[in-house]
Amino acid sequence: MKKNTKGIGTTAIHAGKMKDVMFGSLTTPIYQTSTFIFDNCAQGGARFAGEEDGYIYSRIGNPSASVIEKKVAQLEGGEAALATASGMGAITSLIWTIAGAGKHIIADSTLYGCTYALMSKDLPRFGVEVDLIDLNDLELLEATLKENTIAVFIETPANPNLKITDIKAVSDIAHSYNKEIQVICDNTFASPYNQKPFELGVDVICHSATKYLNGHGDLIAGFVVGKQSLMNEILFVGVKNMTGAVLPANECYLIERGLKTFEVRMQRHNESAMIIAEYLEAHPKIEKVYYPGLKSHHNHEIAVKQMSGFGGVIAFEVKGGRSAGQAMLDNLDMIGLAVSLGSDESLIEHPASMTHSTYTEEELIEVGIPSGLIRLSVGLENVEDIIEDLEVGMSHM
Ligand SMILES: Cc1ncc(COP(=O)(O)O)c(C=O)c1O
Repeated sequence: MKKNTKGIGTTAIHAGKMKDVMFGSLTTPIYQTSTFIFDNCAQGGARFAGEEDGYIYSRIGNPSASVIEKKVAQLEGGEAALATASGMGAITSLIWTIAGAGKHIIADSTLYGCTYALMSKDLPRFGVEVDLIDLNDLELLEATLKENTIAVFIETPANPNLKITDIKAVSDIAHSYNKEIQVICDNTFASPYNQKPFELGVDVICHSATKYLNGHGDLIAGFVVGKQSLMNEILFVGVKNMTGAVLPANECYLIERGLKTFEVRMQRHNESAMIIAEYLEAHPKIEKVYYPGLKSHHNHEIAVKQMSGFGGVIAFEVKGGRSAGQAMLDNLDMIGLAVSLGSDESLIEHPASMTHSTYTEEELIEVGIPSGLIRLSVGLENVEDIIEDLEVGMSHM
C-alpha cells in the first residue's frame, strides 16, 4: 500500500473516496441493498471463488462500507479495516476468528464493562482460557505468557478510569515471547488523532466507532484494523459465519459524514477536556481527577510518550463519595446523564452502577474503579457552559 503522506484532516475527508461515474455525486451514494446482481453464472461463481473482484452480498461487503474502511485504515496507518455493527461486534468478530478452545488470551483487568464480561465470563464458557491481569506489571505479563497464548488485549486509556498501559512495552514483551501473538489495542478513547498503536508495535486495533470516529451520538458501529489477510479472515469467519455483525449502509454514510470533521472535533475535545480536568482538580468539592493529561495521573509520563493529545474523557470522584456524586449527576441542566462518550454532546455517567456493573463490587475495588467514580465525556459545547453546568450539579451535593 502506498504510504499516506496527507494530514489527518485531509485523510479523514478524502481517503477511500469513490468516484461516482454515473452522476458525479460529491458524497458517496448510500448502497442500500442486500445483494448484488451478477452478469451471469460464471461471474457469480468467480466472485464466490475469489477469482474476480466485486460485491456479492452485503454481509460480505458493500461499497458504502468499503469507503469508510479505507479511511479508517489510513487514519490508523494499517493495511486494511473492517466495519462492524458495533464496537462489541468488532471485538467479538476478531476474537472468535483467532481464538478457540484451549487457546489463551491475556487482557488487562480494567476494560469496558462488556469487554470485561466477554473476557471473564463468556469466552471461558467455550474453553478459551483468559487471564485478566494488571498490564502495568510487566513482570506479571512475562510470567503469564504461555505456549498457547494467542493474544494480549490492551485498552488504553481504559474505560472508565483512564488507566494508561505502556503499549510499546507490552507489545515488545509479547512479541519477544512469541512473534505470532496478536497484540490488540482498543483505541476507542484516544482515537487515531491522539494515539497510533501500530507505531508502538501493536498488530490489531479495534474501535467502538459509536464514539469519536462517528462523533455525533446517532449510531452504533465498530472497526477492526490490521493486516489485509487478517481482515479477510475476520470477514469470512468472524463476521460472515459467527457474529453477522455487519454495519448497515446508512450507518456507513453517517460515519463518512462524521469523519469529515474528525480533526477539528478532536482538537476541541482535547482542549476542552484539559481545561475541565484542571478546573476539577483545583475545585474544593473534588476528591480526585483521573485524566492522562494531568501531571497527577499515575502514568502521565507514559501518556506523554505514546499520545499526542489526551482525549475528551475525564473521570473524577467528588468529596462525599457515591451519594454526593449521584446528587450532582441528578441535578445537571445540560450535560446528559447517559452512557457512551465521544459525541458532540457532553455526557456523564456513574460506571459502578452503569457501564461497569458487569464487575462485582470486589472486582471494581480490585481494578481501581471506586464506587463513587464519575465519568464525563466532554462534548463540543463551549467549555464555559460545560463548567457552569458542572457547578450547577455540584451546588446540590
Ligand atoms: C473502550 C470501548 N470499547 C468497546 C466498546 C463497545 O462499543 P459499542 O458500544 O459500540 O459496541 C465501548 C463502549 O462503550 C468502549 O467504551
